[in-house]
Amino acid sequence: MARVLHKLSAWALLALLASLLMGPAAVMAGVNKPVLERGKGERCVEDTEFMRRNHMALLKHHRDDTMRRGIRTTKHSLKGCVDCHASSKTGSVASSKEDFCMACHVYTGVKLDCWDCHATKPMKLYRPAAAPRGTPLMVQQQGGQQP
Ligand code: HEC
Ligand code: HEC
Ligand code: HEC
Repeated sequence: MARVLHKLSAWALLALLASLLMGPAAVMAGVNKPVLERGKGERCVEDTEFMRRNHMALLKHHRDDTMRRGIRTTKHSLKGCVDCHASSKTGSVASSKEDFCMACHVYTGVKLDCWDCHATKPMKLYRPAAAPRGTPLMVQQQGGQQP
C-alpha cells in the first residue's frame, strides 16, 4: 500500500511539474486558443501576425492621430475593425464572449473601456450626415445601438 501511495505521489508530483512546465508552453503552442471568426475580405489592414501582436498600439496611435493631431485616415480606424470583425451571429465585435474583440481579451483578462463610447456594431453612417466634421462616432448619437 505504501508503495502504491508512494508511486501515486510520485505521479502527482510529475503531473504537477508537467503542468507547470507545459502550461505556458501549451499556451504558446496555441492549445485552448480562443476560436476566432475570420474577418471579412482578403486580409487584415496589416499582416495578420503583426495584428495579433500590435493591434493595441495601432489603435492607440490612430486614436492619437485623430484626436490630438486631427489626422483622419481610415486605415487603422476602430470603425474599420468593427466593420470587418463583427460576428455573423451577434453582428457585434463585443456583445458575447465569442465575439472577435472579446474572445482573446476574455482569455487573457484584458478589459476594454472602448465600448462605453464606441459602437460595437457596424453602422451605415460613420457620422450623421448633418453633423459637422469631427463629430465622434458615438453609440448614443447613432441611435443607441448598444449591444
Ligand atoms: C470616453 C469616450 C471614449 C472612450 C472610452 C474611448 N474613445 Fe476612442 N474616441 C472617442 C472620441 C470622442 C473620438 C473621436 C472620434 C472622431 O473624432 O471621429 C474617438 C476616436 C477614436 C479613434 C479614431 C477614430 C476611429 O474610428 O478609428 C480610435 C482608433 C479610438 N477612438 C480608439 C479607441 C480605443 C481602442 C478605445 C478603448 C481602449 C477607445 N477609443 C475608448 C471617445 C472614446
Ligand atoms: C478589410 C477588413 C478588415 C479590417 C478593416 C480589419 N481586419 Fe483584422 N482581419 C481581417 C481578416 C480577413 C483577418 C484574417 C487574416 C488571415 O487569416 O490571415 C484578420 C485578422 C485579424 C487579427 C488576427 C486574428 C487571428 O486569427 O489571430 C487581429 C488581431 C485583427 N485582425 C485585428 C484587427 C483590428 C484591431 C482592426 C482595426 C484596426 C482590424 N483587424 C481591421 C480583416 C480585417
Ligand atoms: C488574437 C487575440 C486578440 C484579438 C482578436 C483582439 N485582441 Fe486586443 N489584445 C490582445 C491581447 C493579448 C492584449 C494585451 C496585450 C498586452 O497586454 O500587451 C490586447 C490588448 C488590447 C488593447 C490595449 C488594452 C490596454 O488596456 O492597453 C486594445 C485597445 C485592444 N486590445 C483592442 C482590440 C480590439 C478593438 C479588438 C477587436 C477589433 C481586439 N483587440 C482583438 C489580444 C487580442
